[in-house]
Amino acid sequence: MRVGSSPMRFDILTLFPGMFESYLRESILKRAQDGGKIEIGIWNIRDYSTDKHHTTDDSPFGGGAGMVLKPEPIADALEAVRRNTGAGRTILLSPRGCLFTQEIARRLASNSHLILLCGRYEGVDERVSTSLVDEEISIGDYVLSGGELAALVVLESVARLLPGVLGAADGPLHDSFTEGLLEHPQYTRPREFGGHSVPDVLLDGDHKKIEAWRRQQSLIATARTRPDLLPHAHLTDEDVAFLREQGYEVLPRKKG
Ligand code: ADE
Repeated sequence: MRVGSSPMRFDILTLFPGMFESYLRESILKRAQDGGKIEIGIWNIRDYSTDKHHTTDDSPFGGGAGMVLKPEPIADALEAVRRNTGAGRTILLSPRGCLFTQEIARRLASNSHLILLCGRYEGVDERVSTSLVDEEISIGDYVLSGGELAALVVLESVARLLPGVLGAADGPLHDSFTEGLLEHPQYTRPREFGGHSVPDVLLDGDHKKIEAWRRQQSLIATARTRPDLLPHAHLTDEDVAFLREQGYEVLPRKKG
């Protein structure tokens, strides 16, 4: 659990440390590090391979194409991380994991230390999943060449939930998914663009009306493009009545 205002720590174990450099040196994640809100360590798994060629993969038992990440360098790298930085909730990024959601990001944000292990090649020896990590996460039903992008996705979505990481003005309160709905549309200048004008309601300064309009637009956007989210969303009776009026079917709420 997180205590006080000490920075949340993230340690990333990868075969490609260079992939992280530029991303972590820009924007919100840079500010969060400079401001002492998060600390990030990058560890090269290859440094923990003991043979003379620094091998980290091998062919699969039982045959088949591709290579599998060996367990020993990963175990040794994890031990080094834990020895240096303490225990942390350890997550393997892999397409075989549970699907990452905003709810999981919120749960992970309550930890003080996450260790993110990036898989590679055709897979990781199963004994890594069964005995060296706490959970396995996938960022979507598609296959990447490794867990590096997934680790960045998890890191950024967790970090932006931490107090003080986003400015008050761009807080995560109204982000898509915060209430289980997609975000309402946003507009800025100019008022007219490509034959489309900004909706009048946004120009009147009537904040109650604007809030109501935004809620309705969130409901419509979700019903149109992600109807699977609606049964999990926090909908009021008024929301349900509005959606039905618009011709969308709303099923009873599901837990979780
Ligand atoms: N590694 C390869 N594909 C992945 C995915 N979809 N999520 C997390 N890690 C991965």
